[in-house]
This record gives sequence, C-alpha cells and structure tokens, in this order.
Amino acid sequence: MSGAPPVDAGPELIEREQESAVLDALVDRLREGGGAVVVRGEAGIGKSVLLQRVRRRAEAQGARPLFTVGVESEAELPFAGLNQLLRPVIGALAQLPESQRQTLEAALGLGVDLKPDSFRVAVAAFQLICESADSVPVVLIVDDAHWLDGSTLSVIAFIGRRLEAEHVALVAAFRSGQSTSLDDARLATLDLERLSASAAARLLDRTAPELHPVLRARVLAESSGNPLALVELARSMGRSGEQLSPPSTTLTSRLERAFASRLRDLSPNTRAGLLAAALDSRASLNEIARSSRARVESLQPAVDAALVEIVDDGVRFRHPLIRSAVRQAASAQQVLEMYRALAEVVADPERQVWHRAMAATGPDESIASALEQHARLAAGRGAVTVAGAALERAAALTADSPRKGARLVAAAEIAYELGLVDSARRLVDEAKAFDLGARDQARLDWFRQISSGSVWFESGAAKTFVTIAQHLRDAGDADMALRSLVPIAHRCWWTRTKTRTREYLVEAALAMGTADDDPRVLAVIGLAHPEETGPAILKRVSQLRLHEMTDPIAAMYVGIAAEKAGDFASGVRFLASAIDGLREQVRLVPLTQALVHYAWAAIHAGEWPAAAAAAHEAAGLARDTGQPQYGLTADLIGGLATALRGTEPHL
Ligand SMILES: Nc1ncnc2c1ncn2[C@@H]1O[C@H](COP(=O)(O)OP(=O)(O)O)[C@@H](O)[C@H]1O
Ligand SMILES: [Mg+2]
Repeated sequence: MSGAPPVDAGPELIEREQESAVLDALVDRLREGGGAVVVRGEAGIGKSVLLQRVRRRAEAQGARPLFTVGVESEAELPFAGLNQLLRPVIGALAQLPESQRQTLEAALGLGVDLKPDSFRVAVAAFQLICESADSVPVVLIVDDAHWLDGSTLSVIAFIGRRLEAEHVALVAAFRSGQSTSLDDARLATLDLERLSASAAARLLDRTAPELHPVLRARVLAESSGNPLALVELARSMGRSGEQLSPPSTTLTSRLERAFASRLRDLSPNTRAGLLAAALDSRASLNEIARSSRARVESLQPAVDAALVEIVDDGVRFRHPLIRSAVRQAASAQQVLEMYRALAEVVADPERQVWHRAMAATGPDESIASALEQHARLAAGRGAVTVAGAALERAAALTADSPRKGARLVAAAEIAYELGLVDSARRLVDEAKAFDLGARDQARLDWFRQISSGSVWFESGAAKTFVTIAQHLRDAGDADMALRSLVPIAHRCWWTRTKTRTREYLVEAALAMGTADDDPRVLAVIGLAHPEETGPAILKRVSQLRLHEMTDPIAAMYVGIAAEKAGDFASGVRFLASAIDGLREQVRLVPLTQALVHYAWAAIHAGEWPAAAAAAHEAAGLARDTGQPQYGLTADLIGGLATALRGTEPHL
C-alpha cells in the first residue's frame, strides 16, 4: 500500500525519551543543517511509531515530511520507493537543470531511456530534494528500509551521507538482522531495545486493563518487553487453542502465530482478499476484489479486527507481521493460484510480469523473455538492481541452456558493476554449468578471474587474461577485450613482474586490432611496462589534443598512461579534464577512479593541496560506489599529501 500512515496525535510513547530527544534535535535544528539517523530494531519494537512521531514533529516545526515504506515482496519494481518519496515534490522538477530533470523523469518512468547508471538518479533526486528544501526544510522518513527496492535504497544511502550542509534530514528504520546498504553508509544509528519491566507493565495496563492477572503475568513474561507482543498477545491470549500451543522459537514467529490465529475467525472470502493484498502491496480494492473473486465489502471483518486499514483505494496491513502471517497461513497451492489470478487482473505490465513469474512452477520461456524485457526497461531507467533481480529470475525460468547461461552472465555483470561481489560470484558459479556462446563464455571467464581475486597472486594470470581478451576480440567485442586487460596491467604496475610477462601483455594489447594511440591501449601498455613503452607513450600523448577529446573515459586512459610514463603534468591535465567530464555526466564509478589517478599524479607534480582534495573526495565516492580498493588507495594518497605538507589538510 502506498499511502503515508495517517497522522494522528498518536499514543503517548512509553520510554524512548532518549531516542525521541535525538530525533527531535535532528528535526529542530534543520534550519541550520541536516543529518541522518537510522533506527534499528526487531519487529514490533516500535520503529514505525517512532517515525510517526518524527513526522508530527516535522509538521509542527513547519518542515515538509516526505515518506516512503518498503514492502516485503519478491517483485522488484524500478524505483518504486523513490517514486513514493518524491511524489509530493515532483512539481519542483521544472526547476532542475535539463539533464537532471531528464534523468529523474527516466528513473520514474516518465521519460525516455537513460544510460544505466543509478548514481545519476541519486544525484538528481538529491538535487530535487535540496531544491525543495530551499523554501521549506524537508524530513525524509523511510520505514522498513530493508524491503525497499534495491535501486531506491542505494539512492537513499547516497543522499543520507550528504545532508550536513542541507536543510534536509533523513530518518530510516530497518529491522535488525536484515542487511541493507544503509548498514555501511556509516550513518548514526539508534538501536531500539525492549522496554523495561515496569514500562512493559504500564503499556499492557493501558492497552488491556481488563486482563486476568494470570494471563497478564503470562503476556508480560512471553513478550519480554516487545511492545507489539504486549499488545497482540494480550489480544489473542485466552482464545481457543492459543494457550495450549507450544512456545515458538522466536518472538517474531510467536507473533505471526498469534496473528494467524486471528485469521482463522475470518471467512474464506475475507482471507482470500487479504492474501491478494499480501501478495501485491499495490493492488487496488478493485484488483483485490477481482483476484479474490469476492466483493470489496468482504474485507470489512479484517478492518474491524484491526488487522488492516483501507487507505487510498488499497489495503494497508497494520503491521508487516500480519502480512507475513497471511502468507504463511495460505497453502502453497493457494499462493500460486492467487499469483495467477493477480496476473490476470492487474493491468500494469511490470507488476503483471512478476505475478506471472511467481505463478510459474517450472521453466517458461514466454515469462522468462518478458522478465528479460522488464530487466532491459529497468536498466534503461537506471534501476540496475531491479534489472539484476529480473534477470536472475528469468534465468531460473529458462530451460534452454545457452540462453539460461547468457541471462546468468548478464545478471553477474550487473552484480559485479554494483560491487555485489558475493552475488556476482554465486551467479558466475551457476552460469558455468551451461553451454554458452563464445562471447558470453569469455565474459564469464573474465568475471570468474576478477571475482576470485586471483589476478593479484596467481602465476599464469597474464596468459589467462590475454586468452580471454583474445576470445572477446574474436567474438567481436574489441572494447571489452581491451578493458579486460586493465586489471592484469594494474597488477604489473603494483607488483614485481617478469619482463617477459610485461612484454607479452604489451604485445597482446597492441594486437587487439585498434589504433596504436587508442587511449585504452596506451593505458594498458603504460601500466604493464612503463620503462619500455614510456617514450612511445610520451610521444603519442604529446600529439593528442585534449580539447578534441569528447569522451572523458578516453581522457582518463590517456591521463593514466601519461602518469605511468612519468609525465605527471600531462597526467594531471588529462585527468582533470576527465574528472570534469565524468562529473558532468555523473558517472561516479569511473569518476572515483579518475580522482584517485589524478591525486596520484598531482602528488608527484607537487600539487599537494589539489591531491589531498581529490583523494578526500575519492575516498567518499569509493564507499558510495563499492570500490574499496580505490578507497584505500585514496586514503593512502591523502595520508601522503598530509605527510608531505606536514600539516593536517584543511579541506
Ligand atoms: N514505546 C512505545 N510505547 C507505546 N506503544 C508502543 C511503543 N512502541 C511500540 N508501541 C506499539 O507497539 C506496536 C508495534 O510498534 P511498531 O512501531 O509498529 O513496531 P515496528 O515498526 O518496530 O515493527 C504498535 O501498536 C505501537 O503503537
Ligand atoms: Mg514498522
């Protein structure tokens, strides 16, 4: 369900004074500057009520709350959460510079295709929020962040790290034990603990004053300070069968059972409606009624039992555990049938394709290719994680071996680009069992080498890489062939490597069928064998006209080659131009790399403050873009600049 929670006075929170004070301070000082706080805790501990409190506080302070919530589901829709978050300020889009406006329109499905780079979306969304915060401070409230689509979550993590100088605050809640990209965003975190015994007793007496003393003691013991358990177990305690059931292993599953026991009192029609709503959080009342073959009114008993609310033409569960209880209470057959029914009634093609995918019990090429198409559209909107999820599911539903392998390789490629090393490794492992076409086989081999990390120590790695590059070239992908040599060339630069190996790499790069002054070739040969290729590189670099280069990646490669050949001044010049271009295009992954190389060249050119500033920026970006090796190198150069200057850098 998409609507924000209703704003009411809200129940008086018991305890949580300290947490409230931290969040109040964040909201109250918004006119001076912003910040981010992550709220973490188990299900039912009181994250959502605390966020509601933030919302009221923001409104009382004249700030504008923007809200989004993640919903558990296997379907990934591109920027679903971001859409909800930005909807109230979408009018300010017109104030953004043209390219950013287009980026956001593409991301939100309102415009033409975008070059797949989710960071551009992050930067544009950030810009839009800051723009709107110029007139009224903004409080971003994100509930159940662990269930947001991956693309939205990375945008939010990106924004969360940049709020100090803005009139924008972010408060995001997620369930402990669920890992999200907010974990390593290094944001201030509030861990919500269970209530004290006396607070738990106060809450119970407020919500269930009539409870029999024996049951009261049992509820207090079983819920051990979890507020939702206090409220819910008191309600379900004493119901038939409840008292006799064995205790569950965790409080969360105990709670789900308590909710499930309340479902049993509902009619099959009501339960079918709830199941439809549980499987598709965006279903309208009409879609719920049609897929459950029941009238909208049959949801009323669930509303009366305080399990759900009807909001904005849809159903919202009062707590996510009710949603999971509904799902678990249904048989596997019922779930499959409901997905099938939803696929028939839902008009939105993106939701429809996921419902079909969930309803499939075996390989199905028509669904798999529809998912592949969905992946392509999602990638075109910059929603790369969504594309990855769709490709992976498409592969699972594919019977044809080369096609299945190709889909897995494509998913692995996305995972690798996003820095999700574990997923990339898993996908690559899966893909290797299938027959692949020549190009996919070569790409797979490359990902296997890269994700195993063996490029840094294995002997014979140069031969492996060169063979892969030759296969890529023979399969018609000269660009990837040349880029595939960059990691092994880097190894030559950083480690002691035999002259023979260096020469072998240089020859291989020159035999890729591109011009000798191709920037990618220059970078590879400069990294691989600078003593030997240095003079030729310096000559070529001196002939290249920087102002004629339109591609910042090409400028970056030339800069790297110049710097490795010892011409630090040219390195600085080309890399500075690459940085400008990449910054303009908001391509943060290569921008990080260009900044690190620039910092390295600038250190050697004696431009220490510029080196320190670039290293500092690169270190932050490396975290954002999942490139730890560049982050560490940036830290190293930053340290070096400090040492050379003999003072702390003032940045
Ligand atoms: N500190 C508190 N004082 C009073 N009631 C609380 C408190 N924390 C949570 N509750 C109640 O417990 C229930 C679960 O809280 P909720 O915020 O939905 O948990 P979460 O979002 O962490 O799963 C709600 O009914 C809420 O009103
Ligand atoms: Mg919650």
